[in-house]
Amino acid sequence: MDNLSVEDRTFPPSAEFAAQANLGEEAYQRAADDPEAFWAEQARHLNWATPFTQVLDWSEKPHARWFADGTLNVAENCVDRHVRDGYGDTVAFHFEGEPGDSRSVTYADLLVEVSRAANALTSLGVQAGDRVAIYLPMIPEAIVAMLACARLGAAHSVIFGGFSAEALRSRIGDAQARLVITSDGQFRRGRAVSLKAAVDEAVAAPDSPVEHVLVVRRTGIDVAWTDKDVWWHELVDTQSDRHEAQPFPAEQPLFILYTSGTTGKPKGILHTSGGYLTQAAYTHRVVFDHKPGQDVYWCTADIGWVTGHSYIVYGPLANRVTQVIYEGTPNTPHEGRHWEIVDKYEVSIYYTAPTLIRTFMKWGAEIPERYDLSSLRVLGSVGEPINPEAWMWYRQTIGHDRCPIVDTWWQTETGAIMISPLPGVTATKPGSAMRPLPGISAVVVNDEGVPVGDGEGGYLVVDKPWPAMLRTIWGDDERYVDTYWSRFAAQGYYFAGDGAKYDTDGALWLLGRVDDVMNISGHRISTTEVESALVAHPSVAEAAVVGASDPMTGQGIVAFVILRGAAVQAAEDAAERDGDDGSAAKALIDELRAHVAKQIGPIARPRQIMVVAELPKTRSGKIMRRLLRDVAENRELGDVTTLQDSAVMNMITSGLGGGS
Ligand code: WTA
Repeated sequence: MDNLSVEDRTFPPSAEFAAQANLGEEAYQRAADDPEAFWAEQARHLNWATPFTQVLDWSEKPHARWFADGTLNVAENCVDRHVRDGYGDTVAFHFEGEPGDSRSVTYADLLVEVSRAANALTSLGVQAGDRVAIYLPMIPEAIVAMLACARLGAAHSVIFGGFSAEALRSRIGDAQARLVITSDGQFRRGRAVSLKAAVDEAVAAPDSPVEHVLVVRRTGIDVAWTDKDVWWHELVDTQSDRHEAQPFPAEQPLFILYTSGTTGKPKGILHTSGGYLTQAAYTHRVVFDHKPGQDVYWCTADIGWVTGHSYIVYGPLANRVTQVIYEGTPNTPHEGRHWEIVDKYEVSIYYTAPTLIRTFMKWGAEIPERYDLSSLRVLGSVGEPINPEAWMWYRQTIGHDRCPIVDTWWQTETGAIMISPLPGVTATKPGSAMRPLPGISAVVVNDEGVPVGDGEGGYLVVDKPWPAMLRTIWGDDERYVDTYWSRFAAQGYYFAGDGAKYDTDGALWLLGRVDDVMNISGHRISTTEVESALVAHPSVAEAAVVGASDPMTGQGIVAFVILRGAAVQAAEDAAERDGDDGSAAKALIDELRAHVAKQIGPIARPRQIMVVAELPKTRSGKIMRRLLRDVAENRELGDVTTLQDSAVMNMITSGLGGGS
């Protein structure tokens, strides 16, 4: 990777920025000396109905309980208390719809909407402890729905709108959700596209746990209607705007969010209330240097991902943010849309992903140059390692060499940011996430769990529990222990699945996943998940999938497939009949790509599919993905000594005519 090279450019914060920053250098030492006291101090920024007396209970590790005897209501912390404190007229969010509609929602408005939605959910039978699935575009109702669940002590499971009916069905089934909240459709690249149809398909089976589907009218497109369906505007808008929030224990489940693991089955990551909200709010305050009442914040993520949960909904709203929410794609109707929005709302904190920064680079610096970006003061990045060129472009073209960049490393599992510069303290290096935050401790270790020397690569582990850590995998606690805690069980380290190194200046560099998880535009997809989808197609006998480096998306999905005999015969017959112009092979490859998109979602559509006669395997039968990655990235083949039959690789590399 290019960031393995030595980087000696550093960018310290300006004296002016440092002087007003929310957290200073002293916090690192203070937090290290007494982490529990430090976290208790952060937790006290929240409003507790019953104050906690114990900070951490780690007696049943790896199962942590934080602030366990305290009670609070998460939604009350994000909405009601701001209204009570006199900020009802403060704008919570400015919503920008893709077609150009916009709407500003104050904290007083939000309280009314969340209260009505909580009453509506109650009328549909939702109770504390239930699960509710949310499948919505980036519209205000998505946030209202999440907060209404939190208010009732029901756990939401948000499923990204780009996932297929099949992905939706399996997640709903795993969580046993009794209600789904969706919309008729969503605006995507200037068109209204259906959303509810996927829900209809997902809840149609007689054994579906779903009793009701609550439908927001967003696009006005025609939808089929079933007896489970209720319109949001008919049910929610007619409810009382008063709802008394009850406190729940700090360990009350807040949400389940599914993410890809190394097997085909997604993991339902479970987060709870008090510890999660503490760290989401703390990190939002210190990493972005957020000043309520002064800043306008914009995180460009979708609420279908953890970034949307922690840095659009919970952290920012707990901190009384004024933020921008944008429904659409960054080039609709034109490639300057983001900068137009920054200009319009005077956005001061902007948080996005490297894949988008690289896309902006490709579109050209002249586009942002047409807008007034002088309101910006902090820039953030998340989701994958940011390459130094993209970092420098972000700093110069968007930040005008003025704004600190915070490259934030974390995961669905960590719940909140773990490793990041502090914008008023850290002299940053392009491409490095720099340092664990005060209160967090991370180590780079070798296979034996022994810390490696500075400059040496190894596995990133977290060696102390943290408040926003996942509590378990929903319905599969054994997998929780296996996946995260068995690799370094002797040391009791959390295994993150990422490679990393500390350089000789103590800066931390993230080097990508060390397992079979791909990172496509910052989205996690497992190789096994795509392989399972491919072999579910009648023409495919075997499949191997790798993430090959890609200049825009970070990694791209490349699949190698062995066809079943009948499919090979059909292709040969077609070639004989129509002349061998490759059109039969191409049609099949297109069909396979579409099949994967239908099974998992368009984000999992392979960039390339190669039809091969054999796959390289070790003597014990494991597919050698490393070799396939070499092929996919057009590299000289690496070490083939463990390969069972080295002729296989010659066949693959010489027969790549079947690529797409
Ligand atoms: C990767 C997203 C390098 C990493 C919040 C991690 C990063 C996975 C960074 C989690 C970063 C995230 N630098 N790599 N700043 N941020 N990653 O669960 O591989 O969707 O394990 O959470 O993304 O992805 P997830």
